[in-house]
Amino acid sequence: MSDSMDIRGYDYVEFYVGSAKMVAYWYAKAMGMEITGYLGPETGVRDRMSYYLTKNNLKIVVTSALQPECYDVAGFVAKHGDGAKRWAVEVDDVGSAFRYATTRGAVMVSKPRRFENDHGYVEEAAIRLYDDTELVFINRDHYDYIFRPDFCKPHQQINIVCEDTGLIGIDHIVGNVRENEMNVWAAYFNQTMGFETFVDFKAGDIGTKYSALLSKVVRSKDSVIRNPINEPFEGLKKSQIEEYIEQYRGSGIQHIAIATRDIVSTIRALRNNGMEFLRVPDTYYDMLRSRKDLKINENIDDLQEQHILCDKESNGYLLQLFTKPIGDRPTFFFEFIQRTGDSQGFGKGNFQALFESIELDQKLRGNLDREPQGEMPAC
Ligand code: FE2
Repeated sequence: MSDSMDIRGYDYVEFYVGSAKMVAYWYAKAMGMEITGYLGPETGVRDRMSYYLTKNNLKIVVTSALQPECYDVAGFVAKHGDGAKRWAVEVDDVGSAFRYATTRGAVMVSKPRRFENDHGYVEEAAIRLYDDTELVFINRDHYDYIFRPDFCKPHQQINIVCEDTGLIGIDHIVGNVRENEMNVWAAYFNQTMGFETFVDFKAGDIGTKYSALLSKVVRSKDSVIRNPINEPFEGLKKSQIEEYIEQYRGSGIQHIAIATRDIVSTIRALRNNGMEFLRVPDTYYDMLRSRKDLKINENIDDLQEQHILCDKESNGYLLQLFTKPIGDRPTFFFEFIQRTGDSQGFGKGNFQALFESIELDQKLRGNLDREPQGEMPAC
């Protein structure tokens, strides 16, 4: 049997959360997604509940434990809070991709298995990433129904009124790891999945006067998957990556960037749906207007009104904005991104403004100084 890593693109992301029903409502109401699949007691699964949501090519599953004995979910949420448990890539052949990865050192989580019903079958296998995260290989060529054969249609039609957000699909997924782990995980992707490192942000490239980080971006051979990996770097105060590692209790997924073709409309709709974003100071837009090299199709007044960031690249530009953490802990957040021309980057020119904004929120949470400020009330 041959092995090969033929990746077609991102497939789904699954979050483990405290209450799947309520989080699914948030994805529908705030992100403008549609609840199209369900798994739970009504489908014969007694210990957990999952909702499957879609918007164009964006596929998200949210899962919660119904009983503490469902420990893979309940234990994950107790330790990490709501977070991304696994992300999937669609491959030509699950068995072949799994053999490719595991024979090159990937840690096995689940061997290739088949989910079947009257509509056909879906194959999946998974390897480990970071502390408690998984990377799934999936193929659904022989299936033409909802998500996966263990899911069914929701039992009742749920009509949620919200503005159309125009989300298209996943652009990139970012991991946060501990000091000295970035090179280990970059090598893991490169050795076990045939990826290559194509961006290497060194000390001094990314940082404010208070905090800093290192970042490497690995990508699949045809660049359909791009995966930045961050680790904290020494600074005067606690970096956002250190805060994440402390609050998440380990390494994991920091953010997922979702593509849109019209970011001004997307951010306006998301704000109207109730989503919270990082603030960008007005001086940032004064700087944008003064840049003679910057030729963009969008009106800078519209970008300023929605606090959207802009970064020029050699043959194009990107527009992006980041949400505040979406859950209770200051861990996971979303990015929305519009690429124009041959944009391949991640907004390096925006890091300064972005990190200063994150540091303001970190300070409010009492997580910027290395020593906690003031007495924490007992709970
Ligand atoms: Fe990003």
